[in-house]
Amino acid sequence: MKVLFVAPEVPPHAKVGGLADVVGALSKALVSLGHECKIFCPLYGDIKPGKDWHSHPSPLPIVAGDHVSFGRLWECTTPDGDVDLTFLEFNDYFGRCGIYGPADNGDSFGDNGHRFAFFCRAALDLCHHLEWYPQIIHCHDWTTGLIPAMLKLNESKGPLSGTSTVLTLHNLEHQGVFPQGIADFAGLAGRVPMESGQLNFLGTGIRFATNLTTVSPTYSREIQGTSGGCGMEKILKRRSVDLCGILNGIDTQVWNPASDSALPGNFSMDDLAGKALCREELLKEMGLPSRKGIPLFGVVSRLYQQKGLDLLAEALPSLLTRKKTLQVVVLGSGDPSQEKAFQDLERKFPEQVATATRFDESLARRIYAGSDFFLMPSRFEPCGLSQLYAMRYGTIPIVRRTGGLADTVHAWDGKTNGNGILFGPSSVRALLRAMETAVMLFDDPSAMQIMQQNGMSEDFSWDKPALQYQSIYVEAQESRLNQVNP
Ligand code: ADP
Ligand code: GLC
Repeated sequence: MKVLFVAPEVPPHAKVGGLADVVGALSKALVSLGHECKIFCPLYGDIKPGKDWHSHPSPLPIVAGDHVSFGRLWECTTPDGDVDLTFLEFNDYFGRCGIYGPADNGDSFGDNGHRFAFFCRAALDLCHHLEWYPQIIHCHDWTTGLIPAMLKLNESKGPLSGTSTVLTLHNLEHQGVFPQGIADFAGLAGRVPMESGQLNFLGTGIRFATNLTTVSPTYSREIQGTSGGCGMEKILKRRSVDLCGILNGIDTQVWNPASDSALPGNFSMDDLAGKALCREELLKEMGLPSRKGIPLFGVVSRLYQQKGLDLLAEALPSLLTRKKTLQVVVLGSGDPSQEKAFQDLERKFPEQVATATRFDESLARRIYAGSDFFLMPSRFEPCGLSQLYAMRYGTIPIVRRTGGLADTVHAWDGKTNGNGILFGPSSVRALLRAMETAVMLFDDPSAMQIMQQNGMSEDFSWDKPALQYQSIYVEAQESRLNQVNP
């Protein structure tokens, strides 16, 4: 099949979180199944066209608002050459640095409604311009949420009339809600339902997409209830037959401790010696002293409410002042108050806490590899890739039992089963208990080793999920003609 991925993030050029990883790795897995995939993404100001990129000979006309604008198309492939990648250069909207906002720290650009409505329209205009008509347009999150409606309402005749849409819901918290004027600009005014006079990009996508997927089976259930649905639960329930929770995979070639060049030592399940070296070097890199017999906890995360790391910042002082103690390395950026909380902890406990408040993929890899435990106390977590990377790198995850964390981390039974530590309530107390369990477990090297090996031997590759997406594509093609208008 021909599949167009439309996404606001694509690795390694534009990444805020796991969406980028999924777009890169899933498209690659689909290509290896024999599909023809193309990824379409805006060219943000911080992406510089590479030497081997080609500028398309003719500009792309994009009809948005009451006039036609012209964008420039850049064509290249993903780094390993597997997937075609087309970037849209249109500097008025995308020439500045940042994907969703100036520092991608939670603040949004004021014209995001225009920027991403324009991008949605451009995705369809791209197909006409290249005369490349996919069977499936695979949309990712709110920024692409208008495509299914634009396709259904404007393209019911012509070469895109056979195209179906799949919308993957990576995170219901971000929906893209904008004033009525954006519906006019997108050519959708009066044609799609408004919510309290506002256009909801994600809600529109949920209503109009042929099929919906989300990134884990548990999250797929959670979002159909009031606590997890972020207001979308009713419509999601109505569309539940078209909604499928497919657990994310990871690119096991790109994330491989045996060959990862960012690590000071490589290792595998059969020979963990390199992991000990990674641990020592990580402590040095982060300016922490090497102490015998105490565990090292790692964090790599966006620092937002979702991730629950404020609970960690609150829990740490009491743990760090006890006799049998621990060390923590935190790599994270986002909410300035959370960044400050971890910087303060570093100042107060310089031998136990080290904080880096930046985005640093290479350091992230060394934290996955060098830590003993990996913390993810998320309030909600649609899937989570970090716990998967941690397990692949022999680090035991400590997670809250929610969303994809509940689907991928299995509690240690004290004997031979389990790959991590889970806790239930979203509270400082519950997190403290889980960390205390970890500190005790650290004294039992054989249990630690079994858990590490259980995590490292899990199949988190895209092999199975890619087949599930393939089935959804087939279903979307079959059901497109029968789908009743919402
Ligand atoms: P989310 O998409 O909600 O942020 P995931 O666990 O799915 O959560 O994916 C997070 C991705 O972002 C992982 O690839 C992780 O390594 C990466 N990441 C998060 N914060 C940082 C950071 N500060 N530096 C480098 N990589 C980061
Ligand atoms: C979102 C979710 C995260 C998920 C990622 C990739 O950012 O917060 O849980 O793993 O998307 O699907």
